[in-house]
Amino acid sequence: MVSATGLKMVQCGLIMFEEPRITHHFFVCTNERPDGHPLPSCGPRGGAAVFAAFTRELARRGYPPGVKITASGCLTPCNYGPNVVVYPEGVWYAKITPADVPALMAVHLDGVGTAGHLLLPETVQLT
Ligand code: FES
Repeated sequence: MVSATGLKMVQCGLIMFEEPRITHHFFVCTNERPDGHPLPSCGPRGGAAVFAAFTRELARRGYPPGVKITASGCLTPCNYGPNVVVYPEGVWYAKITPADVPALMAVHLDGVGTAGHLLLPETVQLT
């Protein structure tokens, strides 16, 4: 169902509401592997704390419509984690800490600042 304003209508319990278009989607790897696995995991290396920092920053910003934060499974470049990828830009970030999160959101949501030093190296294979 589509609303009069052209937005998709979704139902939550008995309430129907317009689903805001997602303008920015931050995926944060929080993957956890069993002990002894040969690859590192972002979750215990700080991914869970990074995800929590994103949710705090989103709350501090008053939950702007269209911004979504998702805790994800493995995004592939495990040795560079905790990793974050932002869509629709398709920008990948590596070795993110909770302290980096306000700057990342400012770059993508406000268009201010820089986060080039946090980019995943271009030589890393994502397949
Ligand atoms: S475990 Fe995070 S990218 Fe693989």
